[in-house]
Amino acid sequence: MIAARITATGAYVPERKVTNDDLARVMDTSDEWIRSRTGIGSRHVAVGESTSHMAVKAAADVLSRSGCRAEDIQFIIVATGTPDHLFPNMACLVQEGIGASHAFCFDLNAACSGFLYSLSVAKGYIESGMYERGMVIGAETISKVVDWKERSTCVLFGDGAGAVIIEKGGRGIGSMVMGADGKGGEVLRCSSSSILCHDEESRRKIDYLHMDGQEVFRFAARQVPAVIEAVLEKEGLEPDQIGHYILHQANERIIASVARKMKEPMEKFPVNLDRYGNTSSASIPILLHELHQTGALKNGEKLILAGFGAGLTWGAAMVEWNI
Ligand code: UT7
Repeated sequence: MIAARITATGAYVPERKVTNDDLARVMDTSDEWIRSRTGIGSRHVAVGESTSHMAVKAAADVLSRSGCRAEDIQFIIVATGTPDHLFPNMACLVQEGIGASHAFCFDLNAACSGFLYSLSVAKGYIESGMYERGMVIGAETISKVVDWKERSTCVLFGDGAGAVIIEKGGRGIGSMVMGADGKGGEVLRCSSSSILCHDEESRRKIDYLHMDGQEVFRFAARQVPAVIEAVLEKEGLEPDQIGHYILHQANERIIASVARKMKEPMEKFPVNLDRYGNTSSASIPILLHELHQTGALKNGEKLILAGFGAGLTWGAAMVEWNI
């Protein structure tokens, strides 16, 4: 059988860093509250930059670190819930931005699970023999859809983009399990899109992101271990055979709860949300990129990637690291 493998990683975050103390100066919150409830210390916020801009930067970054030329890329999938506009899609803007003239391009919205859903599509294209090489990007400007006067949500999120190249050959992306529960749609929703947020006047009218934080917390603490166990079962692996668990970066307490349920040490669950907050579909590829850059991932090591988010949606993958 043809296998699909991640062969390069890249990322981009906007320059503007906003610390918890910066937020505490303009709203009724504190570094202590945000850190103790979430683990977040700061986040990057796009100023004058759009989702497509960041997606192009992450795409250029991954390309420069790969052995591929832009024209070798056969498809581009951008996972995003915060596109700049309805069409053209973000992936077409990436194609234009990096000169990937032979790629077909589309966006995929599965909120914070978008990167894993997109990875599963890319894996399917490659394993079926239809295509040999593609790019998957998670890119978000959540800062445009949160109400900056609503402390219970705005402190949680950040902007950024992460990208991977997926190619045919070698051991790589193993079993994946995805799921959704549309009945839970109300607990995390945003009826207006970032498209409507161009200026102050339109921002006043938009329906910002709403979240029942405790309900999402309970859902994640239950569903993430379940989907990871489903992947491990498919692979015939025990939790201790996994080198690192790379989870969607929403809340350090959720990550710790998953670690406890899996009876695995927290050291196997890398965290970077202290510096980026929750970047939704970008969180897993940004973290993967950082871990790869620092040499934390060893070739041949087995990883679990797992995400969850609005929809409700969730997904997990076993990836054998082999770059
Ligand atoms: O990508 C997927 C997305 N989302 C998630 O994964 C989120 C999952 N949920 C969570 O991470 C947590 O539920 C939150 C971090 C969102 C909230 O933590 P919590 O421990 O569930 O707090 P809470 O909502 O129960 O609020 C506790 C208190 C409330 O005050 P009272 O009613 O007890 O007086 C809030 O008003 O904390 C207050 N509060 C704040 N205080 C200071 C809420 N936000 C803030 C804030 N600063 N930013």
